[in-house]
Amino acid sequence: MENIAVLTSGGDSPGMNACIRAVVRCGIANGLTVYGVQRGYAGLINDEIIPLNERSVGNIIQLGGTFLKTARCKEFMTPEGVDKAVKNLRKYNIDGVVVIGGDGTFRGANELIKRGVKCACIPATIDNNLFYTDYTIGYDTATNTVVNLINNFRDTSLSHDRVSIIEVMGAGCGDIALCAGLAAGADVIIVPEIKLDIDNICERLSNARNHGKEGSIVLLAEKVCDPKKLAEVIQQRCGIECRTAILGHLQRGGSPSAFDRNLASRSGAIAVERLKLEESGVVGYKAGQYIFVPIEEALSAKQIFDIGGYQLAQKLSF
Ligand code: F6P
Repeated sequence: MENIAVLTSGGDSPGMNACIRAVVRCGIANGLTVYGVQRGYAGLINDEIIPLNERSVGNIIQLGGTFLKTARCKEFMTPEGVDKAVKNLRKYNIDGVVVIGGDGTFRGANELIKRGVKCACIPATIDNNLFYTDYTIGYDTATNTVVNLINNFRDTSLSHDRVSIIEVMGAGCGDIALCAGLAAGADVIIVPEIKLDIDNICERLSNARNHGKEGSIVLLAEKVCDPKKLAEVIQQRCGIECRTAILGHLQRGGSPSAFDRNLASRSGAIAVERLKLEESGVVGYKAGQYIFVPIEEALSAKQIFDIGGYQLAQKLSF
């Protein structure tokens, strides 16, 4: 292995830059030539491949997003698209790729592996929806961003005796909603893993109001229900004024937390070590240990929802 490439794919997440930096600098320290692929798999297909050196990744550790840019590439889901990508890799004599992204990105890497390209994947998505690992890069930062924003909602919600319904991201996984909700003292947390129970939600909010609570926070994971419709039901049944907000991409940007920068730097270093050994797989962090497992194993891991955390959040909100 002499030449490797690094790319980011799928939704950006805070810490991707710190990860690219680690890959480039560890790669060069290991005697490898490192290329950057712009715009993820689209850049592999379109030959957007540039040489990187230690200074190319200077002053990016603190930046959110990804300086290599990212994309969701439909063409790469076709055999012809993957063939074009492999052809371009061969053109630069690139034998190994560090692939940074989420589950879709890992599936793409599997196609490269099937065609003989070594890939070391690193989980980076705010959703924390790769269940073989405890943390994905960006999740900690996004959760902290949500907590800080909830603090602002509290001010206005208290001032007007209102319920604030705040929708957060997660792509079908309730981790951001649960972790931020527990940390911010949300009154109600709605996640895809727990069946939506409108009666229970209205009862909890009415009880809180009857016990003197003046403003309430409802944290809603995306894709569970329409926040506006939920507001109408709560307003009608509980007689409490509601406002809704969708945090959207606000929670995906921003400077990465120290936790995410550490996770990103260490994962990048491990990915390079494994590629140097000509191994393919995915880096993870499980029960305090860094692991490296096959992609299929990573993708087939089942979620164990933190029901204890969910119940505790309910108990603590009063
Ligand atoms: O996977 C990251 C994520 O931010 C999800 O939480 C969200 O559902 C999706 O990406 C949004 O995608 P886009 O950036 O295409 O709007």
